[in-house]
Amino acid sequence: MDGKSVQYNIIRKFLMVAFSSIAFMVLGILILSLLLSEGLNSDYLIRALGFDFFSPSYFTVLILIVIMGSVSTIIATYTIGVPVGRSLRNQLQAIRDANEKLSRGKLDHRLNVKGYMELEEISEQFNRMAQRTEKQVESLQRLINENKELLEGAEEAASSEERRKIARELHDAISQQLFAISTTVAATSKMIDQKPEEAKRYFAMIEKMVGNAQQELRALIMHLRPVNLENHSLKEGIQKLLNELDLKHSNIIMHTELNNIEGLTPGVENNVFRVTQEAISNILRHSKATSFSVKLYQKDKVLTLMIEDNGIGIDSSDSKKSSYGIPTMRERIEEMGGRFDIISFPNKGTRIEVRVPVGLQSIFKS
Ligand SMILES: Nc1ncnc2c1ncn2[C@@H]1O[C@H](COP(=O)(O)OP(=O)(O)O)[C@@H](O)[C@H]1O
Ligand SMILES: [Mg+2]
Repeated sequence: MDGKSVQYNIIRKFLMVAFSSIAFMVLGILILSLLLSEGLNSDYLIRALGFDFFSPSYFTVLILIVIMGSVSTIIATYTIGVPVGRSLRNQLQAIRDANEKLSRGKLDHRLNVKGYMELEEISEQFNRMAQRTEKQVESLQRLINENKELLEGAEEAASSEERRKIARELHDAISQQLFAISTTVAATSKMIDQKPEEAKRYFAMIEKMVGNAQQELRALIMHLRPVNLENHSLKEGIQKLLNELDLKHSNIIMHTELNNIEGLTPGVENNVFRVTQEAISNILRHSKATSFSVKLYQKDKVLTLMIEDNGIGIDSSDSKKSSYGIPTMRERIEEMGGRFDIISFPNKGTRIEVRVPVGLQSIFKS
């Protein structure tokens, strides 16, 4: 800080006044004596003033007055200025300490400055501000606590809901299908001698059922797969995901057209990857499609992801309250300033279109 203490400033000002008054007086005397030596008639002055200004007695008295005045000014400076300055300094110190304490988080500290109107005002303002801050912090912490509990509750609800869904899916789809397969196999083995033609038809049915069960399993695995790009680029990550699906022997065909995207931040990359995963998982689980395509490309500064299937389409009347997939996809894209659209027609298929602005880092850098 450049400023000097209040005490220092007050004393300096008092001294300046004292010395400048002495200087003015000395200057006046000098000018007068100069004028007289230049021939101004001392008789004229005596007539005008009524006394002889420059007689030795008057002159001595004048010098004595000047000296006494100066000395008393200096004494007054010390007797008045020093205590005033000291008390002011103490009060200001108290305000400074209080500010320091508040900024360090001691929110219950209050000021008690007395004696100077302005400082009392500052002290009251400080106390009001500290009180307000204390209350705000208190309610903020309460909010954080409540939020944490809410979040924990929501996470627990979501994960137990997810577990319930997986269990239901395993039961409804896979376990039912396995049961159907096992009874069909049993029936087929009985008829294989008497009705070989019928048995052949049953075998085809069994093959289809096994294929479906496999598909359901793939979708579940896709759904449960940990979501992490593991240092792969978005293109590589999606490619790896699709390779893992191993659809060679399934009854669904896949087309891909994946391009590198420039200027992706890890957050954006991850969100788009998760959306891809959920969209493909939905196709495998719900669409009954025979083919689907995944396209990823960049045009100007927009990332575009199109995932399209030729399945049964989304039944809009079947708006399940407990489904998180589609709302979460939308949320992920929209929170990055992107656009999420679903176009779906019954028995024609579903297309998910994602558009996200990319390469914005220059905005943050500048
Ligand atoms: N590609 C799709 N084809 C047909 N139906 C779909 C497709 N994607 C989603 N759906 C339907 O939309 C519903 C909601 O999907 P989603 O929000 O991902 O929830 P979940 O997959 O957990 O059921 C699904 O249950 C399904 O009925
Ligand atoms: Mg889903």
